[in-house]
Amino acid sequence: MNRLPELKIGKHVSRYPIIQGGMGVKISGPKLAGAVASNGGIGTIASVGLACDHPQFNGKNYFDINEIALADAVRIAREKAPGGVLAVNCMVALTDYDRQVRSACEAGVDMIVSGAGLPMKLPEYAKDYPDVALVPIVSSVKAADLIMRKWGKLYGRIPDAIVVETPLYAGGHLGATKMEHVSDQAFSLESVVPDLVKYLSDTVKADVPVIAAGGIWDRSDIDRAFSLGARGVQIGTRFACTEEGDSSMRFKQAYLDATDDDVVVIMSPVGIPGRALRNPFVAKYIEGYVESKPCLAACLSHCTYLRERTTFCIAGALVDAYTGDWDTGLFFCGTNVSKCTKIERVSDIFEELLGGLA
Ligand SMILES: Cc1cc2nc3c(=O)[nH]c(=O)nc-3n(C[C@H](O)[C@H](O)[C@H](O)COP(=O)(O)O)c2cc1C
Repeated sequence: MNRLPELKIGKHVSRYPIIQGGMGVKISGPKLAGAVASNGGIGTIASVGLACDHPQFNGKNYFDINEIALADAVRIAREKAPGGVLAVNCMVALTDYDRQVRSACEAGVDMIVSGAGLPMKLPEYAKDYPDVALVPIVSSVKAADLIMRKWGKLYGRIPDAIVVETPLYAGGHLGATKMEHVSDQAFSLESVVPDLVKYLSDTVKADVPVIAAGGIWDRSDIDRAFSLGARGVQIGTRFACTEEGDSSMRFKQAYLDATDDDVVVIMSPVGIPGRALRNPFVAKYIEGYVESKPCLAACLSHCTYLRERTTFCIAGALVDAYTGDWDTGLFFCGTNVSKCTKIERVSDIFEELLGGLA
């Protein structure tokens, strides 16, 4: 087995080219991100919804407490991984996206990874922190090109790396505007990664690493992604089901119990498809019966629950999944969830992926 190379993104170098994907709400917090970063990968804290169970959250100060909780999370992860590379995942669709980006930068994170929408204004929000690497998540070359043009024109900057996340296998919100894209091979890593690598070298003429995400589980998946031209991989589902994963044991148990038949794609309140487990809550939603907790904090800039009541408060449902309420939670997962047969240790995953060469 060849040694995996290091991964340089902006000014930051991780020993191994393995990024743990940001997973909200609170599935990837400081414990998981710190463990991944201390094992030589890039650990990612998901910024969404951190206020939800914070002792100072009083129902009215959600956005202020999110900032405080995010700074705390970065500090705790940093203590676990001195010298490691830490990222914060900020979702474009959030009402307080700009504040979250700024507070992550202020807290001293190394990079911002940003998807669930195109992060067109990300350089503006991070402009006072030039050492913070900026990494958009896309699912097509077209999306990467839009970002490239806008950033170049308005900010004179290009992304430090680009994550290509395929909607075919990934967990959580998918980079697809229509349901039919979710199974469209035009959005496979095999289609998009080589085209994006070519676009970056031939058109942009810049050395921007491409990271492959969605359906990466073992070393053969990593080697395949590298053969397409990727210089790193982002893994979500496998890291969610680890001892260090920040979710409740009951969330992880849902992963252990899941089979391929339990995985479904639904239209989320954000207005894009999302992949999740079919539990009683999701089964009812698919049947057209909408049940929701009250809006937690108007956390999305466009929310179909707030606007039309046709969906549900996603923050409440994701918090219920994090705490492990099988009946009412929204358990996001990738198609690899059926491969979760035990709760692993992050260091064991690294050892396996590196072929014992770590
Ligand atoms: C439970 C869960 C929550 C997720 N939440 C987010 C999120 O908050 N922001 C984001 O950009 N991606 C999110 N994702 C996507 C992951 O970061 C990752 O890119 C994706 O799951 C990779 O595919 P894999 O799960 O097949 O490895 C989530 C995925 C899962 C499984």
